[in-house]
Amino acid sequence: MVKTTVSVIKADVGSFPGHSRTHPKLLEVAARRLKEAEGSTIIDSYVTHCGDDLELIMTHTKGEDNEEIHKLAWDIFMECAELAKEMKLYGAGQDLLADAFSGNVKGMGPGVAEMEFEERGSDPVLVFMADKTEPGAWNYFLYKIFADPFSTSGLVIDPSMHQGFTFEVHDVMEKRRILFNTPEESYSLLAYIGAPSRYVIKYVRKKDGTVGASTSTQRLNLMAGRYVGKDDPVMVVRAQSGFPAVGEVIDPFRTPILVAGWMRGSHHGPFMPVGVGDANCTAFDGPPRVICLGFQVNNGKLIGPADMFDDPAFDRVRDRCCELSDVLRAHGPFEPHRLSLEEMEYTTLPGVEKQFKDRWEDLPE
Ligand code: F6R
Ligand code: MG
Ligand code: MG
Repeated sequence: MVKTTVSVIKADVGSFPGHSRTHPKLLEVAARRLKEAEGSTIIDSYVTHCGDDLELIMTHTKGEDNEEIHKLAWDIFMECAELAKEMKLYGAGQDLLADAFSGNVKGMGPGVAEMEFEERGSDPVLVFMADKTEPGAWNYFLYKIFADPFSTSGLVIDPSMHQGFTFEVHDVMEKRRILFNTPEESYSLLAYIGAPSRYVIKYVRKKDGTVGASTSTQRLNLMAGRYVGKDDPVMVVRAQSGFPAVGEVIDPFRTPILVAGWMRGSHHGPFMPVGVGDANCTAFDGPPRVICLGFQVNNGKLIGPADMFDDPAFDRVRDRCCELSDVLRAHGPFEPHRLSLEEMEYTTLPGVEKQFKDRWEDLPE
């Protein structure tokens, strides 16, 4: 049976005003280019944005890490970056770290979440896209969705989920990976993923290997060796019939948790779920936002999208995010609003410290 691949590839190639949102002209060009590729390179596509990140959602039969698919995305980002430069949009081309494509967009700036699967009789897929935060932001939610029986009742009630899931965790600093089985190794898993700036869940699979979730793990600053904004991750999750239900997948987003990112990629802030119409960063360049588009995948065709957080059930978490923003913003330049010194190494702060390095004197013994 032919397998379907869902590829979500994203990049910030310029925005307006400042780092707040993608310009509609860029969305138009990207959507047109993907439409032209439908029927040849890809089966179906959908283009959107979350804040200043241009999001390409594609379906095809070529599997993960396919050169043709990655080149298609890269060429679109390059064309949109050119347009952004012409329009003098802000940060035009910022996430494109290389001058020329070399086989795979991973390591070249764009974020990538892909999964290949045999379509079930009916296959609901949820695509999450975030702005002003880092890939580890998904850790908390993936744990709640696939491993917390107090959140996903199916883990307890549904015999097809009772055996639990396997989490593939990447150490983005040491470039290594490890697998943890839940529920039996839940505590060990949490020991790592509770430090989301370093340990990032890449995949969640059923114990027979069937993929349930896939995320982008690229950390731009580590790749570029300098501050280039946060990575603004994406994630694809399959739902229902042996996986958590759609409602179980999105319910954890009703809890306002704090993530790293926000202004200058240097602050903790609440992760606010919003409808696509509100996927624009405003207050203090945020707060960090997440959107979720729901599709049914039908022989590679994308039926949808449904704008999952455009719903009054998520109004209260948005209010609570604003309250948390007030508490954090009151700290001004102080931790824990500002990230820890270790995390600030990947921001523009070392540039300031450099100016004072010769003014420090040793204390007398
Ligand atoms: C965060 C982000 C923005 C910028 C901020 C300063 O990921 O993109 O918060 O860091 O607006 O931007 P520059 O340094 O371009 O003036
Ligand atoms: Mg930007
Ligand atoms: Mg962004």
